[in-house]
Amino acid sequence: MVQPLHPTILAIESSCDETSASVIRSGKVLNNVIASQAIHHKHGGVVPELASRAHQQNILLVVNEAMQTADIKGNELNAIAFTRGPGLMGSLLVGVSFAKGMALALSIPMIEVNHMEAHVLAHFINERPTFPFLCLTVSGGHTQIVLVKDYLDMHVIGETQDDAVGEAFDKAAKMMGLPYPGGPLIDKFAQLGNASTFKFSQTVMPGLEFSFSGIKTAFLYFLRDRKKENEKFVEENLNDICASLQRHLVQMLLQKLKLAAQQTGIREIAIAGGVAANSGLRNELAQTAKELNWKIFIPEFQYCTDNAAMIAMAAHYKFLAGKFCSMDVAPIPNLAIGG
Ligand code: KG4
Ligand code: ZN
Repeated sequence: MVQPLHPTILAIESSCDETSASVIRSGKVLNNVIASQAIHHKHGGVVPELASRAHQQNILLVVNEAMQTADIKGNELNAIAFTRGPGLMGSLLVGVSFAKGMALALSIPMIEVNHMEAHVLAHFINERPTFPFLCLTVSGGHTQIVLVKDYLDMHVIGETQDDAVGEAFDKAAKMMGLPYPGGPLIDKFAQLGNASTFKFSQTVMPGLEFSFSGIKTAFLYFLRDRKKENEKFVEENLNDICASLQRHLVQMLLQKLKLAAQQTGIREIAIAGGVAANSGLRNELAQTAKELNWKIFIPEFQYCTDNAAMIAMAAHYKFLAGKFCSMDVAPIPNLAIGG
């Protein structure tokens, strides 16, 4: 079948704890409907079983809203896209099964999307970096530096060997008694604090590799020792602790990003993923850009954290490249870029 050059695609994201749907037409994102799952807050982290159940409850509502607000009927769709991975198996299954059902009912092709590639391609929703560029993708599950040569040609050139930076934010917040997800709260308190108050030791990693498990343990001991001296240490110093920790984590990221820019000679630098919403990272990146003459790209907030608009953007380019998948496609929880 000859495919149109100006496709209309419905995209579904369900890899973790946001159920999201978006319609894209001729490469222009028409909407980005997101249902977040508050159910996890009281558990201090995402509970996979609860996440898949919440996706099942939300998915039809979210898809209907996306179709209605885009003013699109099912028979106007040229394809349906979904996140194949990485993510939680149960959560991914809900999106994949829903997409299969709709594709069958409407007799339209399916497009599988890699969630991490989509975080990078979120940059094409509004701004347009030129190739090649570097993207630091920082989320709750990943910390990667990606060399992006083209829409569908990208390579991870550095990544964490253990925890993700978002996980370090969330776990540190939990240690201070803050609810999940703690990253945005640390960011909020950090803006009121002095980042030079406390110092943490650096974990030295070779090349473009990251490690965040060391700082997690160091932070645990730091709190334990300070609390021995003063039970109210956290309450009395919350802003300064958050500011100091945030600066430490941001500097770990920027150090490697600078090295990657130096090694590749690339000065078009993007950030993506939930932690790209962090004000400390945004400010320091802007500062570094001035010093090193980088051109930087920071997505709008709604396109940093998990969303279907980025899946739709990735699907658009896959559609144009004729990359469709078959009905027997299954989710891959540890899907890698290029995998
Ligand atoms: O990309 P994302 O929505 O989901 C994953 O694919 O993981 O990223 C979620 C992560 C969480 O760890 C959350 O705490 C972190 O992004 N995050 C932040 C901020 N906003 C979200 N971390 C630091 N500062 C923020 N403002
Ligand atoms: Zn994500």
